[in-house]
Amino acid sequence: MSEKDKRYSVVIAGGGSTYTPGFVLSLIANQDRFPLRKLKFYDNDAERQKKIGDACAIIMKERAPQIEFSYTTDPKEAFTDVDFVMGSIRVGKYHMRELDEKIPLRYGVNGQETTGPGGMAYGMRSIPAIIEIIDWMEKYSPNAWMINYTNTIAIVAEACRRLRPNAKVINICDMPVEIMTRMAKICGLNDYHDLDVNYYGLNHFGWWKEVRDKKTGKDLMPLLKKHISENGYWIGGEFDKETETSWAETFKKAKDCYALDPETLPNTYMQYYYFPQYEVKNADPNHTRTDEIREYRQKIVFGECARIVKAGTAKGNIWEANAEHSNYIVDICHAIAYNTHEKFFANIPNNGAIANIDSDSIVEVPCWFGADGVQPMATGMAGRFQKGLIEEQQACEKLVVDAYEQHSYTKMWQAFALNKTVPDASVAKKILDDMIPENKPYWPELN
Ligand code: NAD
Ligand code: G6P
Ligand code: MN
Repeated sequence: MSEKDKRYSVVIAGGGSTYTPGFVLSLIANQDRFPLRKLKFYDNDAERQKKIGDACAIIMKERAPQIEFSYTTDPKEAFTDVDFVMGSIRVGKYHMRELDEKIPLRYGVNGQETTGPGGMAYGMRSIPAIIEIIDWMEKYSPNAWMINYTNTIAIVAEACRRLRPNAKVINICDMPVEIMTRMAKICGLNDYHDLDVNYYGLNHFGWWKEVRDKKTGKDLMPLLKKHISENGYWIGGEFDKETETSWAETFKKAKDCYALDPETLPNTYMQYYYFPQYEVKNADPNHTRTDEIREYRQKIVFGECARIVKAGTAKGNIWEANAEHSNYIVDICHAIAYNTHEKFFANIPNNGAIANIDSDSIVEVPCWFGADGVQPMATGMAGRFQKGLIEEQQACEKLVVDAYEQHSYTKMWQAFALNKTVPDASVAKKILDDMIPENKPYWPELN
């Protein structure tokens, strides 16, 4: 068989993820450019995975019977004979995300999945689980690539840099492309593929300094600045008819973030660092994003899976129309499989990509994706404001990995105390002391 006719084998680690069915539909829709021979799910929660797996088995039988489909909790079975591993796990599941959000709020600190103390706690839980998966991949399928979007990505990527520096792992995030889809709409273009950009920062912590129409080279910054100074990234109307309220607020809040530096366009996540007091004031300590997901996305996904299994058919399922999150991941697999050197985003060791940031910092920048992995783009200098913010935040991320490696209570305390979302070291200590017993099954013992 020639390379041209090659068919790929993919395993989704975190088969029970709420994003899995959407990803499956996206893979099926892209069979002309990324053809599969095998699709497997792997999860360590058999019961949760079965609910998604049984529905996906019906989808696969109806839409892509040529692809061999299975799901398992056995690592050997999962990671043998695969070309791509998708990392989509949530260690401690939504129960732990809820605590990441609610414990900081007890002390007037923002409670968020991937930022502040909650994000650092989550990153610490993900490290050993991702390292374990990398090791299985390398043992059973040494030529495979792992495309990892398991959060907290900045911390996971720093752990990969230190603990598995040669592993074929690419740590990615969909937020820049999600925002760029909005930018494209604002400019009357179709989606992120139509834009050429210069972007730099850390994961969930970055800025665009250039946005152009890819085809014509036209500078789109003036148009975008005008829209964002009035509406943030909010578009409204048909485009936003299914956007949840908390996401709507996030896209609108980008207006206030933009005001802080009118030269660049901010990642939406900057809201948590620029306006932590506002975030706390607007939060309900008893009802956070996790509760919303349980009441909405999780309910819809598992409800739809149960409906499909009961009906014995996936006709008219809810994912068919909209799988944009997952299309981006297919784009990336395609670029690696066919060595296209298209530009997407990855979290990688800086090595000069941001000229005035340490070379061993993990940064999020545009990269060319190909058969040899990712090649970062040189993005130039970080502004003084951005440089200060980046250095503080990336020190927090490094301290979490120090704490993991050294089993150090002090390092984790320093990470919390240094963070921009935390007012002082005594508050940092209270949050950490509440988190330690809850994270006992997942964290190393901190001494
Ligand atoms: P989810 O809780 O619905 O699913 C995660 C699955 O992982 C669960 O079925 C769980 O049983 C499984 N799991 C947990 N620990 C495991 C382990 N050690 N080994 C194998 N499986 C394990 O989560 P979700 O909301 O669908 O999110 C999945 C992940 O994707 C999260 O890490 C989330 O933060 C991340 N995410 C990242 C991006 C990005 O831009 N990087 C975008 C969306 C989601
Ligand atoms: C974006 C981010 C992800 C994050 C997700 C949370 O997609 O890039 O890293 O996990 O938002 O969204 P949720 O709807 O789960 O709060
Ligand atoms: Mn992300």
